[in-house]
Parts: sequence; structure tokens; C-alpha cells
Amino acid sequence: MVQDRYRTPAIVLHWLIAAAILFQMQLPWRFHDLKTPEAFALIQLHKSVGITILVLSLARLGWRLTNPPPLEPETLAPWERMLSSVVHVGLYGLMIGMPITGWLLVSTSKTGIPTLLYGLAPWPHIPGFARLPEAGREVWNGFAHEGHELLGWGFYILIGLHVAGALKHQLFSRDEPVLARMAPGAVAGRWAEPRLLLIALGVIVAIGGAWLIHPKPPAPAPLPPPPVEAGAPVIEPVMPVAAVEPPLKVEAAEAPAAPSTWAVAKGSTLGFSTAWGGQAVEGRFDAWSADIAFSPDALDRSRVKVTIDLASVATGDPQRDVALPGADFFDAAQHPKAIFTADSFEAAGQNRYVAKGRLSLRGVTKPVRLPFTLKIDGDKARMSGVTSLDRTAFGVGQGEWQATDQIPAEVKVSIQLTATR
Ligand code: HEM
Ligand code: HEM
Repeated sequence: MVQDRYRTPAIVLHWLIAAAILFQMQLPWRFHDLKTPEAFALIQLHKSVGITILVLSLARLGWRLTNPPPLEPETLAPWERMLSSVVHVGLYGLMIGMPITGWLLVSTSKTGIPTLLYGLAPWPHIPGFARLPEAGREVWNGFAHEGHELLGWGFYILIGLHVAGALKHQLFSRDEPVLARMAPGAVAGRWAEPRLLLIALGVIVAIGGAWLIHPKPPAPAPLPPPPVEAGAPVIEPVMPVAAVEPPLKVEAAEAPAAPSTWAVAKGSTLGFSTAWGGQAVEGRFDAWSADIAFSPDALDRSRVKVTIDLASVATGDPQRDVALPGADFFDAAQHPKAIFTADSFEAAGQNRYVAKGRLSLRGVTKPVRLPFTLKIDGDKARMSGVTSLDRTAFGVGQGEWQATDQIPAEVKVSIQLTATR
């Protein structure tokens, strides 16, 4: 029997891939150049759909190479055969080239944001690029960027030609059953062909769906330490202490006015709160340490030094946690630690103090005041403090992140710590 249509697996894959591509091509119009949480969610969706298209297209190509296509209608003009072959080969090239340039694009990106397919399954970057020197990675990234954009325009042209060809044969050639090869049963020459209407409906759903879909922005997983109550300005505790701190026992308080040395206990937290696109973001640093020499009756000789490992930032969202140590934010590669040193303390009421010192962050040093409360009970102390920083003064947020419409300039930093003498 002469085969006059593609076999079912080829047909199913054709329509699945076509719908996915039409959907996929809309998303960049929505996320283009935006830095909102929704744009990030749309890019994650674009990456997920793109990888799906890659897998389906490889399957489709594998099938095509092992299963010859149906013979073409004999009445097709040679130029039509030629053009349709060129367009088909081009489409296969784009179905595979587009996702690969996209994958290369994210694998060489400075931000290193991971890909989480449909919010569920982690998808690796292309191996090897992470280890390239930065200049090399930038070249590849530029190439991938140009390629992805150029191939994108190629897609518009080839899909246009492809659909125009299919419609021409369907609508104007009674004796050339071309659509029936991909949509079995379609009657050539029939304008109100139900299969054609169904395809048109599918196209509208795929394109419209891409404009209507609102993927959920990353929902931060709850972070263990309870954030300091907003609106409790100075009262909440905050003095960082590192869980990893070696308990450096300095001499006990024999000399009456010498400040005691304190070792930070486990469970102490150093957190911050900010927002992104109106959505609150609570974060903390998991690796920090503090050298504390402090006594209420020796304020003039009290000293505190807090060292924070910026790469240990955690906000409950893996993409953000990769982006924050990057060059646009903390630039932890150049400035791995932030250091707060305080060498001037003032009493500010019962159990209340203000530490005055300097914060060095991202190569910038600025004065910082940290009001805190401190309760000493024998050899145990509990302290908590909150202060605000202007992230832009430290250059945290470069380029488009400098603007404060998505991420406010003011970041609240809070410390809660218990320490033993
Ligand atoms: C939008 C993304 C689309 C892509 C990437 C795409 C891709 C392809 C490819 C690669 C082939 C060649 C199959 C092969 O020989 O292995 C093909 C065939 C075909 N496509 Fe599409 N297609 C798309 C959309 C459409 C649409 C919207 C229609 C209908 C209006 C359509 C109708 C057809 C038909 C009738 C064939 C069979 C042509 C023949 O072999 O003579 N395609 N498509
Ligand atoms: C068939 C699959 C795909 C199609 C049709 C597609 C299409 C597009 C188009 C048209 C753009 C806009 C280009 C521009 O103006 O810069 C774009 C941007 C982008 N695509 Fe894809 N893409 C596909 C797969 C992928 C994959 C698999 C990934 C990553 C895993 C990806 C990641 C991106 C990224 C990150 C951008 C934004 C680039 C930027 O402007 O910075 N794409 N895509």
C-alpha cells in the first residue's frame, strides 16, 4: 500500500512541537528586558518549554531518519518540492538549534542562574563552560545571544513560508492533498475543512495561552530563623555570632573593667529583609562569625567584629541564592567577606545600646549604627538588633538592578544572638 500520510508518531510529534514553538515564541515578548519576579518565572517557563522542544525534536528527527516520509503528491511543481524540502530541513535545524543556543546562553551567563524544569526538575548547564575563564565565557555568551536572536527571526520566516505553503495547497489546490499528510482525512480544496479549523483553534490556544499564563514567581521556602518583627524598630535583637565560631575564651572578668569575651552560640542568626517586585524577601547568612569583647561597664573598651561569608546567603529560592553572590549583587568572587567592626558603644536606656562602627561590603566601607538590646544572665547573653542599610551605597545591585523600583534601596538587617562568656 502506498503510504499517503505521515505515520501517527510523526503526526503527534509534529503538532505537539508546533504548539510548543508557537507558545514559546510569545514568551520573550513578555519577559524581554524586565527584572520583575514574573519575568523571571516566565524565563524559567521559556527554558522548560525550550528543553521540552529539544527532546521532542530529537525524537522527531530520530523517527524521521528511520521512517521515510510519504511520497509527495505528483502534481507538485519542482520548485514547490524544492522549497518545501529546504523549509523542512531549515525547520529541523531551528527546532534543534534554537534550544541549543538558548541552553548555551544560560550555561555561559554571568548570573549562573540554574534551570528548574517546570519548577520541579533541575536541568544542568552545558558541562565545561562554568570552568572557562570569564572572557571566554563572555565570547560564548555573546555568540549564543546573537545566535538565539537570529535563529528566532529565522523561525518567524520559515514558519510563515511553511504555513503559507500548507494553506496554499489546502485552499487552492483540489488535487494536492498536502494537509492530509499531517492531518489525516483533510479534504484538499475545502475551505471549511474541520481539521483546518481545529488546527487554527490550536494555534490560537497556543499563542493566546502564552499571553495569559502567569507562572508562579519563585515561592521562597520558609527560612528556619523567624524574621524579626517588622515595626519593632530597635527592640528586636541583633548581634551576629557565628555558629562556626571557635569559642575563643578570653580571660573571665577578673579585672573589673575589662570587657568580657563572648562566644556565639548555635542558633544565632544574621538575617535581612528586602522585597522584589512587591514580594517580601527574607534572607540570612549561614556562615558568619563574631569576635565579641563587650561589657556594659566597660563600653569604652568593648569591641565587636563580625565577618560574614557572603556566598552563604540563603533566601529560600535556589535561583536567587545563586544570583546574590554574583557580580551584580555581592560580587563575592572579588569581595568574599563583609566585615562589620564596632568600637564605640553607647548606652541607650535599660538593656539598650547603640553600636557604632563600619561595614565593609563589596569594596565599600560606610559608617553603620546598630541599636541593640542585650540581656545578660550570668554567663549567658541574649542580644538582638536591627538596622537599615542603603544597598545602593555599597553597589549591591549593578546595572538594571540599581533602580529601586523592583528592589528598594533600604535593606533591613537583623541580628539575634545568644552568647556565652
Ligand atoms: C509552528 C511550528 C511548526 C513547525 C516547527 C513545523 C515543522 C514541520 C516539519 C519539520 C515538517 C516536515 C516533516 C518531515 O518531513 O519530517 C512539517 C510538515 C508539515 N507541516 Fe508543519 N510545522 C509547524 C507548523 C505547522 C502548521 C501550523 C501547519 C498547518 C497549517 C503545518 C502543516 C504541515 C504539513 C501539512 C506538513 C506536511 C508537509 C509535507 O510533507 O508535504 N505545520 N512541519
Ligand atoms: C525552540 C525553542 C526556543 C525558541 C523558539 C526560543 C525563542 C526565543 C526568542 C525568540 C527569544 C528572544 C530573542 C531576543 O530578542 O533576544 C528568546 C530569548 C531567550 N531564550 Fe529562548 N527559545 C527557545 C529555547 C530556549 C531554551 C532551551 C533556553 C534555555 C534553556 C532559552 C533561553 C532564552 C533566554 C535566557 C532568552 C533571553 C535572552 C535575552 O534577551 O537575554 N530559550 N528565545
